[in-house]
Order: sequence, then structure tokens, then C-alpha cells
Amino acid sequence: MRFILLGAPGAGKGTQAKYLTERYAIPQISTGDMLRAAISAKTPVGVLAKEVIDRGELVSDEVMIGLIQDRIALDDCKDGYLLDGFPRTLPQAHALRDMQVRVDAVVEIDVEHSEIIRRISGRRVHEESGRTYHIESKPPLKDGIDDATGDPLVQREDDREETVKRRLDIYEKQTSPLKAYYSEWAASDDAAAPGYVYIKGVGSVDDIRDKIFSELDALNKTS
Ligand code: AP5
Ligand code: MG
Repeated sequence: MRFILLGAPGAGKGTQAKYLTERYAIPQISTGDMLRAAISAKTPVGVLAKEVIDRGELVSDEVMIGLIQDRIALDDCKDGYLLDGFPRTLPQAHALRDMQVRVDAVVEIDVEHSEIIRRISGRRVHEESGRTYHIESKPPLKDGIDDATGDPLVQREDDREETVKRRLDIYEKQTSPLKAYYSEWAASDDAAAPGYVYIKGVGSVDDIRDKIFSELDALNKTS
């Protein structure tokens, strides 16, 4: 199975990605996590990406398309994958289509901006794995400590309020057109079109997971 998770910063893409990858036994390809790993390793892409990410802006389409092309060619992607954070612009979506990647479903997670700001300000992450917590709604077992490894949790640099507002602004301008792009394609009679699943991303993490699973099951039955 190949999936795309579509949603604003903080909508819960990373949180839900963990359940989907477990259920379908596929890797999660989070472009944000890949870029943060490149920044830590100080690779050329990382050096280039750091300033852009810290400003809350998007890394160039050219760099991102190249990264994805290389990533999905790896062996662990042969039975499918989940794209979390890609595509994020129309040119990226066109590039994916040009690569003849057959996507089974696009899952949109829709959350209001006020709730997003609450979620992001309480987010804490385990840097190495990308595991995500929230100080109120999904706290770690021990304050500030990753459950699995015992490493300290950190707050992302781009999670400051001003940067989050900028990211949301850019999402509305550059990424939200993908909703119409994919839902119109899904409604067309093109047999290669992915299915489109819309999920209202409010409620508990488990409720949202169950909604996504049941919508995907329903999609599978009709296709
Ligand atoms: P990326 O890392 O992808 O950031 P993002 O899209 O801004 O998304 P987030 O990771 O912030 O949010 P999320 O939806 O994963 O939410 P999460 O599950 O963590 O990208 C970072 C940057 O890299 C971009 O700004 C850009 O510069 C660059 N980049 C990446 N891809 C690119 C591309 N394709 N093109 C160009 N540039 C690119 O949840 C958020 C919080 O809410 C957590 O604390 C979580 O515990 C909590 N939470 C989740 N669900 C719930 C719930 N149901 N109830 C309460 N709390 C919840
Ligand atoms: Mg994420």
C-alpha cells in the first residue's frame, strides 16, 4: 500500500503515521524527519535546509523531489510506504505523478488552526526516532524522557509560536491546493487515481486512528 498523509503542521500526521505503518507493515517517509536528520548530520542538504526550516518556510521543490526519488527507490519501499509531509506543493504532486507512483489513498487530516497552535506548543519529540508526545494529551511515562530509549525529549526549533503561524500561512497558500488536486482526481474516472479520505482530526488520538482505519477499509471494499 502507498499512502499520502495530508494536513497542516501539527494536524497529527506523524502521530497517526505510526499506527498506519504498523498496520500495513510499511515504512514511514517523513520528509521533515529526513531533513532534521540531515541537519544533525550536517550534510549539504541539511546545511541548506536548516535556515529555511527555522524560518518556517519550505525547502525547494527540486531538493525535496530528489530526496523522495532516492528514498522510495530503497529496498524497504518495495511493498509500499507512507508519505508524511510530501508532496507539499503542486509541483511536488506533479513530480510524484510523473514518477508513475501509484498511490492507493490520500488521507487528509483536518484540524482548526487554534487547536494546532495548542498542539504544537505542547509537543515534545525524541530527536533520533521522531517519536512525538504532547505534554497534556500524550505525555511520556516520565516527564521529558522518551518511553522507549530513556533519552531526553526536546522541543523543535520551528515550534515557536511566530514560526508556527508562518508555517500555517504557507500551508494555506502552498499545500492546501493539494486537497482539491487529489480529491478531484479521486472523483475522476482515471483508474490510476488514488482514493481520497477526509478525516476531521479532532478527538482523541485513538478515535482518529480508528476513523482512518475504517475509512481506509471502506475504500478498499469499494475499489
Ligand atoms: P514536518 O516535520 O513535516 O512538519 P509539519 O508538516 O509542519 O508537521 P508537524 O510534524 O509539525 O506536525 P504533524 O502533523 O506531524 O503533527 P504531530 O503528529 O507531530 O516539516 C518540517 C519542515 O520541513 C517544514 O516546515 C519545511 O520547512 C520542511 N519540509 C518538510 N517536507 C517538505 C516538503 N515536502 N517540501 C518542502 N519543505 C518541506 O502532532 C502535533 C502535536 O499534537 C503532538 O504533540 C501530538 O502529540 C499532538 N496530537 C496529535 N494528535 C492529537 C490529538 N488527536 N489530540 C491532541 N493532541 C494531538
Ligand atoms: Mg510530523
